Amino acid sequence: MDKFVIEGPSTLSGSLTVGGSKNTALPLMAAAVLADGTTTVTNVPDLRDVHTLSKVIRVTGPDVAVRPDEHTIEIDASTVDDPVSPYELVKKMRASFYMLGALVGRCGRARVSLPGGCAWGPRPVDLHIEGMKQLGAEIELDEGYVVAKATGGRLSGGTFRMEPSSVGATVNLLLGAVTARGGSKIENAAMEPDVVAFGEALKKMGAQIDGLGTRTIEIQGVDALTPIEVRNTPDRIEMGTFMILAAMAGEPGEPFEIKNGNHQHLGQAFKDYFRGTGADTKYTDDGAIVTPPETVTPVSIRTETYPGFPTDLQAQWTVMLATAEGEATVTDTIYDDRFKHVPELQRLGINVTVDGNAATVRGGQPIKGAQVMSTDLRASVSLVMAGIVASGRTDVLRIYHLDRGYENLATKLRSAGASIERQQYDEFAEPERTK
Ligand code: UD1
Repeated sequence: MDKFVIEGPSTLSGSLTVGGSKNTALPLMAAAVLADGTTTVTNVPDLRDVHTLSKVIRVTGPDVAVRPDEHTIEIDASTVDDPVSPYELVKKMRASFYMLGALVGRCGRARVSLPGGCAWGPRPVDLHIEGMKQLGAEIELDEGYVVAKATGGRLSGGTFRMEPSSVGATVNLLLGAVTARGGSKIENAAMEPDVVAFGEALKKMGAQIDGLGTRTIEIQGVDALTPIEVRNTPDRIEMGTFMILAAMAGEPGEPFEIKNGNHQHLGQAFKDYFRGTGADTKYTDDGAIVTPPETVTPVSIRTETYPGFPTDLQAQWTVMLATAEGEATVTDTIYDDRFKHVPELQRLGINVTVDGNAATVRGGQPIKGAQVMSTDLRASVSLVMAGIVASGRTDVLRIYHLDRGYENLATKLRSAGASIERQQYDEFAEPERTK
């Protein structure tokens, strides 16, 4: 297994470059399944989740050519003849469940494994399933699989109101609805930029969709979609991660550049909260320039759906608060129990406690290196960030979680002045005697 070994503290300088969005690439890849022919997606990050979905798509029939060096994926979906997504693949990544909408939309039927649990608790797919029913699918559960059929090979279309608003369910229902016989309406739809970029790509393929980026999306089904070439958007979560890192670990008063990002995708809440930390930020056409403050001002945040503060940035914010003078709270209203990083942060000496869905950080305590364990993707990056500001050596174990969502993280961070190495280790090795 691999781990990161970080020697801290380091002061970062220069720039960090944002890659393509994981959470937009995945639905774009699923959309390719809908069109007979080859769809090309560019600016795709070389990440484990992208490779997992490539495999999931491949087993249904298409040829998928992943070109990591060019950050390009070509999906030739001329043949989709086995509309099944097996448990062995779906359990690795929940977004594989997008195949439900993609396969029903393309083939009129699908057999897709239920994804199971997630590192930070139950993450249901009831809205995906109920929504597909409302669009006209007949659904049965069979040995852990969702078996969906559309009468006559095409969904009828229908109206579904989701509560709460869900990114994944909105994507799945769009995938199903765009080739339905009739019209559909998704109420309380997700407005996240990932969904908008994906919906725009569907429109380029010939889909008729109104209301992207609002709470009500209306779709008029079309007979077939055509393949396209589409450029994936920059990763807004990576951009936010790097901005937070710059504020907490950059040289106070020295501008630090975040390149290749799209600041409009950050959402207004993040920008407002970030300004409150004292980091002076100038947004540019392709990113941001962050000038770190002498000391970070503690700012409490609450995660919300877009344009609210993203839940995928709360762990990173928690670590930044540890470097601030004073107390602040991180409340997650999307996932009640997404705090698996907290006990690990405590191992580094960070004064953080959890009460319900809120973590309170009392900043300004010394942060000292230790061995810590990654538990999920965003938790892992928060541990790396803590390691950069901690004094001494921090080993972040099980970084396969991180490989799901951050491309070449160690190389990027080294280029900005961090001391971080990737090393192999034996998880089951017996510890040596210390005396
Ligand atoms: C996506 C993102 C993930 C992010 C999350 C919230 C991808 C691949 N992943 O995940 O990084 O953290 O959005 O911004 O894009 N819910 C239900 N029933 C459902 C579906 C969801 O109750 O059928 C609930 C969830 O438990 C959660 C809320 O809805 O409380 C939002 O989840 P959702 O937007 O669906 O997250 P994902 O699409 O899984």
